Amino acid sequence: MQKLKNKIALVSGAGAGIGHAICKALADDGATIIAVARNENNLQQLQQQLNSDSHQFWPIDLSSPDGKEKLFFQLSVFGFPHIVVCNINIPSEKKRLINIKEENFSKGFTANIDHIITILEKTLQFQRSENFGRWIGVSSFAAGIGLPGQVVYNAQKAAMEALILNIATEEGKHGITANIVSPGFIQTPATETRIPKEMFDKLASYNVLRRAGKPEDVAAAIRFFASQDAAFITGVNLPVCGGAQLAWNF
Ligand SMILES: NC(=O)c1ccc[n+]([C@@H]2O[C@H](COP(=O)([O-])OP(=O)(O)OC[C@H]3O[C@@H](n4cnc5c(N)ncnc54)[C@H](OP(=O)(O)O)[C@@H]3O)[C@@H](O)[C@H]2O)c1
Repeated sequence: MQKLKNKIALVSGAGAGIGHAICKALADDGATIIAVARNENNLQQLQQQLNSDSHQFWPIDLSSPDGKEKLFFQLSVFGFPHIVVCNINIPSEKKRLINIKEENFSKGFTANIDHIITILEKTLQFQRSENFGRWIGVSSFAAGIGLPGQVVYNAQKAAMEALILNIATEEGKHGITANIVSPGFIQTPATETRIPKEMFDKLASYNVLRRAGKPEDVAAAIRFFASQDAAFITGVNLPVCGGAQLAWNF
């Protein structure tokens, strides 16, 4: 059944891996997708997989002022979204605290949500008028446990989680929910290309299911939060991490 028919879903960071899987899952449920990432080739690949003229593929750099303005403008023309999935991960310095310098924080804690702030007011107004809204932040299980060597990434995820929780508390009375999904170690082009094979296999085994997650595992949780079935769930943070919360590194 097309549970999200007539709903517009904005997915930021839709260029690959988890972003592609989210777009496919929400499109399967009937949503009209607005997929945003920088790399046009990756967006074209997604376009071929979604196979419908109704979806939008916007190559935009969301870390730049121009990019955020462009996003706002294009939404003003196309229509603001019922569903927002904040999935981008603007690359950050990976350093332990002892080596961290002020300039390592130059992109700021809000780098991953600046584009959300730009569209927040208008999107909430639209969602209030529809008495329906879904916000889903893609955080990280690792960020939630203070994984060493990535304080900037962890802090950026924390800022995103705070924003999502405030949307939940302030907008719930308008039929708007806001939730967080925290993936564990997931097999995506990002992890496959950046992490040496031996380390990849080790990280993949650090959970009770003893495997890396698939992008579809994360997308399934997001699909649920976006649906009417999750209408009474808001302000939660769901780990999608193969039970790593039970047995991290045992
Ligand atoms: N993979 C994992 O193990 C894992 C674990 C926990 C959490 N997560 C989270 O899950 C999400 C997806 O992760 P992933 O592994 O699939 O991919 P990723 O490489 O972490 O990137 C996410 C997406 O962000 C886009 N992006 C980066 N900078 C951007 C910018 N300035 N403007 C617009 N888009 C931008 C990238 O596309 P372009 O390069 O084309 O712009 C990419 O599609 C991320 O938020 C990540 O932190 C992943």
